[in-house]
Amino acid sequence: MKILHIDCSPRPESHSRQLSAAIVKRLLEAAPAATVSRRDLGTGPLSHASPDYATALSSPATLAAPPSGALDISETLILEVEAADVVVIGTPMHNLTVPSVLKAWIDQILRAGRTFLSTPAGKVGLLRDRPVFVGIASGGVFTGEKANQPDFLTPYLSAVLGSIGLKTVQFLPVQATAFLAGDQATLAREKALGALDLTVVRKLPCPIV
Ligand SMILES: Cc1cc2nc3c(=O)[nH]c(=O)nc-3n(C[C@H](O)[C@H](O)[C@H](O)COP(=O)(O)O)c2cc1C
Repeated sequence: MKILHIDCSPRPESHSRQLSAAIVKRLLEAAPAATVSRRDLGTGPLSHASPDYATALSSPATLAAPPSGALDISETLILEVEAADVVVIGTPMHNLTVPSVLKAWIDQILRAGRTFLSTPAGKVGLLRDRPVFVGIASGGVFTGEKANQPDFLTPYLSAVLGSIGLKTVQFLPVQATAFLAGDQATLAREKALGALDLTVVRKLPCPIV
């Protein structure tokens, strides 16, 4: 089993990094022979879409004959996803949604004719579905009765990942990190991990042990 482990926080000792690492650890306990590849968007942010990339994506005609090298970064990142049986993403909530470094990655991953088809009924994903576990850290609360803000993160990620075919997405949030002190952070992480459902991993066609 191959795991692609993505982090987005700019902070080295961040809640979402610790959560995504704990998810990967649980996966490795279930599948000790699994391998892990890393894409750290926090320490190695991608550039925003370049003029050549934006030009290539501007029409079917330009996509069919893109400027030389314009799709190289996109292709590298898509191949990383395609090589993975499971994707783990650790992300903070930044201004109600994903951080811009994760958005920059999404902008490279969603490419018409490569990862989705554009149809009158909407985008049709071209990638094989595979489990995506998303560990989220938010300073405030965005779910349940105590929510004090709207959530544009989970519906957005579900929509963009679903549009390329990744429909099996589990969100594991650690919320109110601004108010977690000492052991409370560890307890909150353990609570979030309690919702981790590895059933989808056990159903994978690849051997997990
Ligand atoms: C630029 C920025 C915007 C933020 N916006 C929100 C927000 O909209 N909602 C929220 O609950 N927390 C927000 N926070 C707080 C972070 O979500 C919180 O500190 C979280 O723990 C960060 O994840 P990390 O610990 O993995 O770095 C924001 C933090 C930053 C730096």
